[in-house]
Amino acid sequence: MCGIVGILSTEPVALDLVDALRRLEYRGYDSAGIATVENGHLGRRRAEGKLRNLESRLASEPLNGHIGIGHTRWATHGRPIERNAHPHMTPRVSVVHNGIIENFRELREELTAAGHVFETETDTETVVHLITDQMDKGAGPIDAVKSALKRLHGAFALAIIFAGEDNLMMAARLGSPLVVGHGEGRMFLGSDAIALAPFTDTVTYLEEGDFAVLRNDGVEIFDRDENPAQRVPIKSQANALLVDKGNHRHFMAKEIHEQPEVISHTLAHYLDMAEGRIHLPDIGIDLSSVPRVTISACGTAYYAGLVAKYWIERYARVPVEIDIASELRYREAPLPQGGLAIFVSQSGETADTLATLRYCKEQGQRIAAVVNVRTSTIARESDVVLPTLAGPEIGVASTKAFTCQLTALACFTLALGRARGTIDEATERTLVKELMEVPRQIADQLFDETQYEHLAHLLAKSNDVLYLGRGISFPLAMEGALKLKEISYLHAEGYAAGELKHGPIALIDEKVPVIIVAPRDGLFEKTISNMQEVAARGGQIVMISNALDDDVGCPLTAHIRMPDAHDFTNPIIYAVPIQLIAYHTAVQMGTDVDQPRNLAKSVTVE
Ligand code: F6R
Repeated sequence: MCGIVGILSTEPVALDLVDALRRLEYRGYDSAGIATVENGHLGRRRAEGKLRNLESRLASEPLNGHIGIGHTRWATHGRPIERNAHPHMTPRVSVVHNGIIENFRELREELTAAGHVFETETDTETVVHLITDQMDKGAGPIDAVKSALKRLHGAFALAIIFAGEDNLMMAARLGSPLVVGHGEGRMFLGSDAIALAPFTDTVTYLEEGDFAVLRNDGVEIFDRDENPAQRVPIKSQANALLVDKGNHRHFMAKEIHEQPEVISHTLAHYLDMAEGRIHLPDIGIDLSSVPRVTISACGTAYYAGLVAKYWIERYARVPVEIDIASELRYREAPLPQGGLAIFVSQSGETADTLATLRYCKEQGQRIAAVVNVRTSTIARESDVVLPTLAGPEIGVASTKAFTCQLTALACFTLALGRARGTIDEATERTLVKELMEVPRQIADQLFDETQYEHLAHLLAKSNDVLYLGRGISFPLAMEGALKLKEISYLHAEGYAAGELKHGPIALIDEKVPVIIVAPRDGLFEKTISNMQEVAARGGQIVMISNALDDDVGCPLTAHIRMPDAHDFTNPIIYAVPIQLIAYHTAVQMGTDVDQPRNLAKSVTVE
C-alpha cells in the first residue's frame, strides 16, 4: 500500500508534493520520490527511508517544475532501495503506482525483447516502458496510456506525466483508490482526500476502471470503456476527520471497496511477489514439527479461522482443532506439548479470545496471533504476530479485516505446507500466483452493485434467510448469515449444505430465500443436489457461483456470477458478495449500517 500524489500548477510544485506525501506516510515510508517537468524535461529526486530524507535531497538539489507526481513507498516488488523507489521513468514518461501489476513478468519479457532496458526490480517499471513503447511508435501521450492500460492485469492506481507536457497528467484506477482535487487554476491527485486537504476540499473520486486526463483548469474522466464519465465533485470531510468515508455512504461500503488494496498490502507482507514465492517473516517457530494447530476466535474472526482449518488440513496435512473462544476457554481441552495455537482478532482486545490465549499459553502452546491492531493486548501477549494490514476498520460489521485475515492465514498455510514438505515448489508458485490475482478479482466484482440492490428488495421482505455451503464454503455461509443478521436485523442461519435434510429443510417454503455459496469445486455436484432439494420445496434460490445456470437444473431467483478462480482462493473472493448482500439489504431496510444496535467494535467483556 503506497501513497501517490500529483499536482498541476503555474508555480513550482515540489514542496507541495512533499507536503501531500507527508499525509500519506501512513501508507508506507520505506522510500519516497517526486518527479516534475522542467523546461520540457523530466527530473526526479528519490531517497530511501522517511520523507525527511527526500526533503534534504530536494533542499540541495531542487526541482522547479510546475507539474509533478510523488510517491511514498511500501515495498512489494523489489527491495526498499533508492533504485526501486518511485517515480519510475524513461526520458519520455514518469509514473507513480500503488498496487500490483500481476502480469509484469510477461510484459517485462516482451518489452525487453523489443529492446527496452529495465533498471529496477519493480512491477511498475513495465508501465513506464509500455507507455514509452507506444509513444516511440508515434502515439500521443493520451493514446499511449490508453493502450498501455488495456495490457495491465492487476489492481492499481497510477499517475503519469510526460516530457514536453507541462499541462497534462494522466491518472487511472482499478482496485486502488484515487481522488482528484479541484483548485483555482491548480489540479491535484491523491490516494486519499486527506493528502489533498491543505490545498482543496473539493474532490472527485475516480471509480473502478476510470482513467482521467488532468490539466490546470480541470479534469476529463472516462470509464473503463473509454466513454466520458460524469463523476460528481463533493466536499471532502478530510480536514475534520483522520479517516473519512470518501464518496461512500457508509464506512462499511468504503471498507468493502478498500479490499483490493488492503489485501494487496497484506499479501505484500507475506509474499515475495517478484519471485512468486511465499516469504513468511521469521516467526521463530519450527513449523516442520508442529504436531497440531489449535485455532480460536470470536464471530467473523472465528469464521476466518474455520476457513484456515480447511486450508491447513488439506494443504499442510496438520490436524486442526478449532473452537469459538468463549467455549474453548472453559472446556479444559487437553492440548499437545509443542502445539501451535493461533488466535484471530481484528481488534486484538476481545476478552474471550484473550482469555483463551492465556489458557493455551498455560498449556504449553506456542502462540501466534493474526491481528489488525499490532499494539493490541493479544499481539503483545503472543509469541508471534501475523499482522493483517487492513488499516482502521470503522464499520462495526467486519469486512476488510475478514478478507485480510483470510489472506494472512492462506499465506501461513503455504509456509506451513512448505515447511512440512506437503507443498512442493511448483504448487507454491501456482498458489502464490493465484493469491496475487485476488485483488483484481475482487476489484472486478465491485464495478456494479445493481444486482445486489435488486436482491435487497427480495431479502428485505423476508423473515428468515438460510445460507448454505459445503466444505470450505460452509464457514462463508455462516459468515453470510452473521453479516446479514447483525446489520439488517433479519433472522438468518448458515448451515453446511449436507445438513439441510437433517432439520432446517423444514423451514423452507416459497417465502424463504436460500443463499447458496457454490463455487464449481470438487463438491459442486453435491451442493447442486441440496439446491434441488430446496427447489422442490419452493424455496427461492440465490446462487453465488462461477457455474452456468444450465449446470444447476433448477430455477434460480438470482445468480451472482463469480470469476473462475482456484479452490484455494475462492473463500477470499466469495466473501465479497456475501458482504454486499448484507450491506444492500441493510441500506434497503434503513438500519444503522455502521453502528448496528447492541453491538460494539471491540468486545472487551466476557
Ligand atoms: C462481525 C464482527 C464480530 C467480530 C468479533 C471478534 O462482523 O465484527 O463478530 O469478528 O466480535 O472481534 P475481533 O476480531 O476484534 O476479535
